[in-house]
Amino acid sequence: MGKIILTGDRPTGRLHVGHYVGSLRRRVELQNSGEYDKTFIMIADAQALTDNIENPEKVRQNIIEVALDYLACGLDPAKSTLFIQSQIAELCELTFYYMDLVTVSRLQRNPTVKSEIKMRNFEASIPVGFFTYPISQAADITAFKATTVPVGEDQLPMIEQTREIVRKFNAVYEEVLVEPEVLLPENDACMRLPGIDGKAKMSKSLGNCIYLADSADEVRKKIMSMYTDPEHIQVSDPGHIEGNTVFTYLDAFCRPEHFERYLPDYADLNELKAHYQRGGLGDVKVKKFLNNIIQEELEPIRTRRKEFEKDIPAIYEMLKKGSDIAREVAAQTLSEVKRAMKINYFEDMALIQSQAEKYGQES
Ligand code: TRP
Repeated sequence: MGKIILTGDRPTGRLHVGHYVGSLRRRVELQNSGEYDKTFIMIADAQALTDNIENPEKVRQNIIEVALDYLACGLDPAKSTLFIQSQIAELCELTFYYMDLVTVSRLQRNPTVKSEIKMRNFEASIPVGFFTYPISQAADITAFKATTVPVGEDQLPMIEQTREIVRKFNAVYEEVLVEPEVLLPENDACMRLPGIDGKAKMSKSLGNCIYLADSADEVRKKIMSMYTDPEHIQVSDPGHIEGNTVFTYLDAFCRPEHFERYLPDYADLNELKAHYQRGGLGDVKVKKFLNNIIQEELEPIRTRRKEFEKDIPAIYEMLKKGSDIAREVAAQTLSEVKRAMKINYFEDMALIQSQAEKYGQES
């Protein structure tokens, strides 16, 4: 059996560089690697609604933003199927059946759900749809028989929950579903890229994101205002690397060739870090270096986005086509699931025959 990728994002805003190093960049590589038979990229609007009940317009508006960001990064509809979750009714049906295989206490122990309940002040009244979204995520993944799910670390509990559902389903019914593997970002910095203010997570409400669609000027301003080491006041002061946003970003973005191009006095990132720690290296110099690197990386993305923005109806058309393809694949899995669960009455001639015989009818 071949290797299949499925992953996706909630459309609650434009995508930022955290998404990029955490998953988008890798997806494009995987898509182009030729190692995977199929790649499915899902805009998880139904999941976004589970905690945006009062804000459907936000989700609606951001479908196109996420799609543009995907295309701008190099996801290619000729190689990957891009689709919208809510347009695949089969996913709801699968979710409903998987609910039989999961206990309330197991969901309560899901660390991501736990922390999100806290974050959203849901403690007093958790919407059932939100509470059960890990089950719906299992449906997203298994509907496509995904073997590989490239996501950030925060999604690990979701994949674990999916694997449990798969094992349970296959044990109780029949070997129909595929247990997926998670594919995490390449290093810690990519896994947890902080906001430009050094806060743990980039978030729209904190206003600390660098968006893929930001102009070159906005990006430069944001980088020059980045949080560094508050104890590194004079250039000559020894500086700290840990918790220093600029260096975390360098860990995520910097490659050896960047030194040749922009900072030939240093052989590599380790040398730059050592100099900073020793003292004598100013923040501005490091920030300018980071700015060069990020501009180089975002420039082609921004240019491609501008091109795609010229024909918005074509993007909806592409998503519609992708959703049609995704629906067919999910329908196939759903029919296997229903057969395994013995709820395929009308296609089961043997069942009809045997019931007829029970009532004395000859065939
Ligand atoms: N939970 C993911 C997020 O918040 C989005 C998502 C929904 C997803 N279904 C998925 C990711 C299936 C990977 C696989 O970003």
